[in-house]
Amino acid sequence: MTVPQPPSHRTNPKSQWSTLSVHAGEDQAPKPRGAVTDPIFCASTYAFSDTQSLIDFIVEKQPREEYARYGNPTEKTVERKLAILDGAEAAVLYATGMAAVSGLLLAKLSAGDELVIFDEFYQRSREFCENELSRFGVATKIVATGDFDQLEAAITPATRLLFTESPTNPHLSVIDLERFAALGRKHGIETAVDATLATPYNVRPIEFGIDYVVHSCTKYLAGHNDLLAGSISAAAAKIEPLRKFRGYAGTTNSPQAEYLLLRGLKTLELRMQRHNANGQAMAEFLASHPRIDRVYYPGLPGHPNYEIAKRTMRGCGGVVTFTVKEADWRQTARIVDAVRIPQIAASLGGVESLIEQPLILSYYEFTPENRQSLGIPDNMIRLSCGIENIEDLIADLKQALDK
Ligand SMILES: Cc1ncc(COP(=O)(O)O)c(C=O)c1O
Repeated sequence: MTVPQPPSHRTNPKSQWSTLSVHAGEDQAPKPRGAVTDPIFCASTYAFSDTQSLIDFIVEKQPREEYARYGNPTEKTVERKLAILDGAEAAVLYATGMAAVSGLLLAKLSAGDELVIFDEFYQRSREFCENELSRFGVATKIVATGDFDQLEAAITPATRLLFTESPTNPHLSVIDLERFAALGRKHGIETAVDATLATPYNVRPIEFGIDYVVHSCTKYLAGHNDLLAGSISAAAAKIEPLRKFRGYAGTTNSPQAEYLLLRGLKTLELRMQRHNANGQAMAEFLASHPRIDRVYYPGLPGHPNYEIAKRTMRGCGGVVTFTVKEADWRQTARIVDAVRIPQIAASLGGVESLIEQPLILSYYEFTPENRQSLGIPDNMIRLSCGIENIEDLIADLKQALDK
């Protein structure tokens, strides 16, 4: 049976963002059997027709598959799409966001090297630096978020990497990435940004001169709270050693999760537009509510990084962190328990709204002094607005706060 062949789609690099997110990185030739979507390649290993073709593959470094720990065709499609969305030459996918964070650090840093991070850093990334990297003789210097004088003062001849998040989780501080990249260049040090909370729709750090962009694709990029994945985008020569290290570490993702990520990426613009609008409206509502003490959302004019966010970001996303006036942890927990639409769960960036009290979810076993030094008060709530109707979400928060 002959299968009708659609005209091959050519992705013009000048295409607008949503065209790129739907089509970029996908095969230009018709897909197998006329399918509109990419197939999932489940094979763990790939056969060669004879010994000579195996030798040719090794000697000529042919771009084909060998063993799935080193990649599969579904994964390559996602990597090409992510690289294009991030404005990078190449990207490498990982099993999780933490595999990407730890993969970057382990592949880049050696005994005697130093790394500088800001004090607002995803707690598990920070613990990895402090508790694990230190075992291999890598020192982590931690400076106040956004303080460029402290950042520069922390640099020594042993510094190999400056690593930040933007916006930070859960405080939503926005870093001036142009300045961050310029500082790295001035000292000949590479820079990395975990842009999980931004996504390439809201900000593209490579355009500011950042060397590595890390994402937990588990969040907005996949967007449906149904898979784990991580990625790093960078220049092709910088991705090559990371991919090699991933082959040793075995932190490759599965073709099934990669396919779901590919599907999620196609609707990224639509979802981000809604997340941005919902986050902004929710932040404005909370800022006007008499029970709310402080709202951490860079889209609010009173936020210390409002100007940087306005200049560098298309929107501020769906995550809104806030504190409840004169509430202890129990009174705060009662609000979390009273909401009906957002579910109490870790993670963010999915179509379903999620809510959590950082004290309980991530810092329950920390001492009060420790939590205070990390800026995690007992009355803090982090809300990840999904893509539900904003009037429903606000009415839900309102009834929980007014109880
Ligand atoms: C900013 C940030 N980076 C990295 C990670 C880790 O991602 P994953 O859970 O996919 O390992 C998270 C997870 O919450 C995160 O918020």
